[in-house]
Formats: sequence, structure tokens, C-alpha cells
Amino acid sequence: MDRFIIEGGRPLEGRVRVSGAKNAALPIIASTILTGGTSVLMDVPRLRDVKTMGRLITNMGGTFEHSGNTLSVSTEGLSLFEAPYDLVRTMRASVLVLGPLTARYGTARVSLPGGCAIGARPINLHLMGLAKMGADITLEAGYVIARARRLRGAQIYFDIPTVTGTENLMMAAALASGTTRLENAACEPEVVDLGEALTRMGARISGLGTPVIEIEGVEELRPVEYRVIPDRIEAGTFIAAAGITGGRVRIENVIPDHLEAVIMKLQETGISISVDEEGILVEGPERPRSSDLKTLPYPGFPTDMQAQFMALLSVARGTSIIRETIFENRFMHVAELRRMGADISIEGSTATVRGVETLKGAPVMATDLRASASLVLAALRAEGRTQINRIYHIDRGYEEIEKKLRGLGALITREREEP
Ligand code: EPZ
Repeated sequence: MDRFIIEGGRPLEGRVRVSGAKNAALPIIASTILTGGTSVLMDVPRLRDVKTMGRLITNMGGTFEHSGNTLSVSTEGLSLFEAPYDLVRTMRASVLVLGPLTARYGTARVSLPGGCAIGARPINLHLMGLAKMGADITLEAGYVIARARRLRGAQIYFDIPTVTGTENLMMAAALASGTTRLENAACEPEVVDLGEALTRMGARISGLGTPVIEIEGVEELRPVEYRVIPDRIEAGTFIAAAGITGGRVRIENVIPDHLEAVIMKLQETGISISVDEEGILVEGPERPRSSDLKTLPYPGFPTDMQAQFMALLSVARGTSIIRETIFENRFMHVAELRRMGADISIEGSTATVRGVETLKGAPVMATDLRASASLVLAALRAEGRTQINRIYHIDRGYEEIEKKLRGLGALITREREEP
């Protein structure tokens, strides 16, 4: 397993281009199951999770060619309609094949995702929706088996606005007979991007980006050429990186509308952020100010930026209160930040962050994707050398992050951990 070695204390300077969004690419790749033929997707980031989705598709009999950031995926000859445990356990987003397989082939066998570092993350709402659309859902030896001659439109209310739940059922509804209405649906830009790609395939969808989405089923969908939106969480991570190091960075390939809450909260800490047609110019203060935070579904502050924001606040002037409302255990980065001298206490889903003058480099352990990003930010600020172990977590969601950071003047190298 690889690790990062980072020498901290250098302000980041220069410009960086954000890659395509992982959480848009994954559902859009899954949606190609709904069509025959070959789709071509552009700006698809080269990430572990995209590779895993590719293995799912080829496992089922499709083809998956990723050259540069252009992906050509064909689902013409699928002969196996399942997502096996060994793939699902490495990537929960594998459950995104459930809706498309059931809708197009009338059958799907998908391993139930186990829990993960940040929480139990059940998929009961995905299954509730498919059952309402007429699928027969059974659980067998850790697998969900879904069967349906033809899914039918239904009215579905989500107790919680689930991102992949909305995506799974939007894809299922696209080929169902009749109209489906999703209420309390997720509004994330990645959900909208999937909806735009489905519309390009011939789906009839209204209400994208609002809590009520209507999908009128059609007989068939056609393959597409489609460009994935930029990754707003990667962009937010680089804004926080410029902020925590007191640097000056221009971030390109950004859709500022997707980052409103993130930009406003980071500006509250004293980071200067100006938006122009080329992207975002970020200038970090000598030391950030404290700020309170509550994570919320979009357009609220994204849970996927909570760990990065906490790293920034760990060196702020003053005390900050962070409330994580989406996942029940998304504070795994706290123990590691403490090893670097952060003063953070946790009570349930609330963290109290007392800003310290400096962090000290130390050996730390990555536990999940965004916690890893938080440790990189802290290491960039810390005095001395930090070693971040198990960085396969970060490779899941950040394309060439050490190359991008080195391009901004960071002293970061990747080392192979001896076996
Ligand atoms: C998506 O996960 C993202 N992943 C996550 O990003 C992101 O953190 C999350 O949305 C929230 O924004 C992808 O898009 C691939 P949810 P998802 O269903 O869809 C509960 C990253 O870092 N829930 O919106 O799995 C759930 O437990 C990853 O890129 C149910 O109870 O999240 C959670 O508390 C991490 N039952 C809440 O809803 C269900 O059936 C929101 O989860 C579904 C969800």
C-alpha cells in the first residue's frame, strides 16, 4: 500500500485544473446499461472507483476502454446481470447497476454493500422504490435479487434525500411503463448531470435539481456522447488547500454555482475567493478565522467537504463547532488530526475544534476518501514531515493529486510501502 510523504509549511502558488466529477461519472457509466451500443464519455477521471465500475461492466460482458479521460463503454452483449461482493465491498457505488439492470433485463443480483468507515449506509430506500415499481425483491446470502417483467411508474417518497437512491430509481424509471414521481429527491449537481445524460439518451425527465423529479418511461434509450461535469469536491478541496497554506491559487474547470455554500463558508474563515470566467482565484490568509458548520443535503454545505473544512479550522483563530448531519461516523479524521496537534473533541455528531497556532508533522493513517484529503491539507500546513499511510483511499477520488499539488509548489512524494 502506498503512502505520501509531505514537508509542510509552504504556501501553494500557481494554477490547477479540476478533473471530471467521480460522483457524476459513476452513475452515468451505470446508466449505459440502459442502452445498447457504445457510449463515449468525456472528462472521466482516472480513478480507482472508475476502474472498479469498469470491472463491473466487463464482468457482465460489456466493454470498457478508458484512454486519457475519454471513456468508451459498450453494454451491447451483457450476459451476466450481477455485481459480485468482491467488487461491491470495494465500492458501494456498485449498487448503481441495480436500477438499470432491473429496468433493462428484468433481473439483477447485487451484493448488499456492507457498512463502511463513515457509516452503516443502508440501501433500504433504493429497494423500497424498486418494490413500489413492481420489482420482486428478495435477499439471499448477502445479495439483493430483483426481478420484474417490466417496471411500472410509481409515486416514491424518500424519507431521506438519498443521492444514489435518487439516481438508481431515476434510471429504473427511465424504461418503466408509465410515469414515476420521486419526492424528497436529491438535488446534487451529480444527480442533475445523470439526468441530463439520460435525457440525451432519450429519457423524459422533469424537475432535475429540485426535490420533485418526474420521469415518463420510454421504450428504449440510445447510446450517447457526453461530457461529465467538473468535480466540485475536488475544487473545494483545492480552495481549502490554498486557504490553509496561505497561498494564492487559480482553480480552473469549475462551475461556481455548484460551490455556493462551500465558497461562502470558506470566505467566512478569511479566505479571499473571487470568481471569473476562467475559474476561481483563491488567496489564503496568514491564519484562518473560526466558523461554525452544519453539513446538509445540496444546496447546503456538502458532507464530502466536512473533513477538509475541519483541517482548515484546526489552525484557525478561535473555536468552531461542526455538526455532521448526513453520516453517523464521519469523524475518522479527528484522531489522526489530533496526532498532528489538533485540539478537537467529539460529542455524538458534533465536533468542537479549538484552533491551534501550528500543527506538527507526524505519521498518520488514511481511513476513507475525504479523511485522507483532510490529512493532506493538515500536512501541507504542518511544521515538518508527515507520512500518510494507506493512501489508496485518496486514489479512489482524486486524480493525480500529488502531481497537481507538486505543480502548486507542495513538497509531496509517493512511496511504496514495503510489503
Ligand atoms: C453519495 O453517497 C456520494 N457517493 C457520497 O460521496 C456522499 O457523501 C453522499 O452521497 C452524500 O452526499 C456517490 O455519489 C457515489 P446517500 P450515497 O444515499 O448515495 C442514508 C464520496 O466521498 N440512506 O445520499 O451512498 C445514508 O445512510 C462519497 O465521494 C438510508 O438510510 O449517500 C446517509 O445517512 C462518500 N437509506 C444518508 O441517507 C438508503 O437507502 C445520505 O446517504 C440510502 C441512504
